[in-house]
Amino acid sequence: MMGNVLLLFAWFVVAVVASLSIGWEFIRQIFGMLAPMVVSPFILLTIFRKRELWNRLVQRYAIFVAWFAVFMIAFQIPAFPDGWTYFECFGLPILIFFLLYVWDRFFGGRFQMRWIVSGSVLVIVGFIFGSLVLNATAMQANGHEESLDWGGGKITNVKELVDVTALTGPDAAVVTKRFQFTAAKKRMEIPDGSKKELWLFNGELTGPVIRVTQGDVVEVTLTNKNIADGVTIHWHGYDVPIAEDGVPDISQKAVAIGESYTYRFKADTAGTFWYHSHNQSSEQVGHGLFGSLIVEPKKQSKEELEIVGFVAPKYIDASGALLSGDGTVPKKIKPGTNVRIRLGNAHNKPQKLILNGTAFQVAAIDGNAIHKPTNLKETYLQIPAGGRMDVTFTMPNHAVRLFDAKDERGGWVFQSTTTTTKASMEVPDEVFKPEEYGEQQASQLDVSADFDREFEMVFDSKLAFFDGMVHHLWTINGELYPNTPMLMVSEGDIVKTTFVNRSYSHHPMHLHGHKMLVLTRNGVATTGSPWWTDTLNVKPGETYEVAFKADNPGIWMDHCHNLDHATNGMMMHLQYDNVYTPFSGHTHE
Ligand code: C2O
Ligand code: CU
Repeated sequence: MMGNVLLLFAWFVVAVVASLSIGWEFIRQIFGMLAPMVVSPFILLTIFRKRELWNRLVQRYAIFVAWFAVFMIAFQIPAFPDGWTYFECFGLPILIFFLLYVWDRFFGGRFQMRWIVSGSVLVIVGFIFGSLVLNATAMQANGHEESLDWGGGKITNVKELVDVTALTGPDAAVVTKRFQFTAAKKRMEIPDGSKKELWLFNGELTGPVIRVTQGDVVEVTLTNKNIADGVTIHWHGYDVPIAEDGVPDISQKAVAIGESYTYRFKADTAGTFWYHSHNQSSEQVGHGLFGSLIVEPKKQSKEELEIVGFVAPKYIDASGALLSGDGTVPKKIKPGTNVRIRLGNAHNKPQKLILNGTAFQVAAIDGNAIHKPTNLKETYLQIPAGGRMDVTFTMPNHAVRLFDAKDERGGWVFQSTTTTTKASMEVPDEVFKPEEYGEQQASQLDVSADFDREFEMVFDSKLAFFDGMVHHLWTINGELYPNTPMLMVSEGDIVKTTFVNRSYSHHPMHLHGHKMLVLTRNGVATTGSPWWTDTLNVKPGETYEVAFKADNPGIWMDHCHNLDHATNGMMMHLQYDNVYTPFSGHTHE
């Protein structure tokens, strides 16, 4: 029996050591609670070595907790440390220990191994069902968002609330660039050569490129031809006024079949952005309802050649095909040409992208220029789901290849106009580190003073019934949307948010309406160019601190851009204390 216990204990140690590679935070939170539970029987054993009854009990208890630890870790119990979790970790074992004692004391203590085993199995099965039933109601659409998180700042009670529909972009009279978009179904060829029904804007994959110049006033009229559940357009990374943000049931109603909606915003920030439907995003973006939004700078000279590329969503291509963002993928480039590739990721997972054959710079992240980018070589880029990176280089007199590490077809090859050479498909080991890239510069956000509010968002998962099936649902602070307490801010606040990922999956966190300045990664301050982002990939075990200025009143989505995770609970809102929405219901994604 002791051998059994020791084996499980050894397993636990191995699990902890293995997890060291994915981060301290992970260990602290998951194993920190389990460790006392697993270690305590061994301490008790040494203390009570001489007393027969206790010795027997503790041995049984040891077996139970070891199995319980296996179970907790294997099922990724929603271990956000609330009261229930502590009960799971400590209360339940203590209860079991007590029952074992009663059994021993009053039933002669002659029960055998098989009783212990079947008893533990029963408890575990019961526990799974218990937690399923408890979680079953969490995802119902009629949830509420009554609970508010003020981030330790001033609790306000603004009487005169502004309707989100009043917070619009400029007038039709000042529009300088007009676009008409129709969302419709279309059967067409996908990268693997087969045909599929896609859902597209103007029948194009990717959607029509919106290329404007800084200072333009953009107007896009969206019409829904035949997308059953309705569509919207969200300008991902573009900090438009809330009424133009395209989130159904917050800033508008989804555009039903036959209906139209007009978006208008001033393009005052240059950079690489994208747009996509924000209704049932996982399905609709997956089917092709997205495209690129490029705002060219007014002054400084742009590159001689620009290429726009998106990693395809999984439904369109599961193996990392690059889709052209604007139909300009040259086969040959003249040596000496200054090239900019604007890369985006429409997939739900972070993508490993490689540019072989030339030194290059990452000129911008999420549309925000990097201050003095340095040359990179033999470095791959990891672009978060929903994120963008601009890559610049001077065309050499040999071939250059851009590809997704998963894509065996090899992505795009740009030959020099003077020679034809091979381009390597090697995948470098080194990953690009935005936290130390480029040169330091005073950023527009002064974070030297105290923050007005500080929020913490802990990412985790739990099992629950959803859509009639048992799913892995993704939680923020232990809650599923729409039950996650809203983050409350007042206009003008300087806010700090800490992201903690204690789950086993990546979570690319996207905040609407604001840019986030990354302050620290795993407790270490960033050292390079100010790193502004709208979609920050938080890996398992990682911790980030970000800051933003609350300067765009509204009710803003803050969600994971693995859109499957968003569908399965990983969404919440950032709400200004002076704003309300007249659109009821919370069935949107
Ligand atoms: Cu690109 Cu809320 O999404
Ligand atoms: Cu996620």
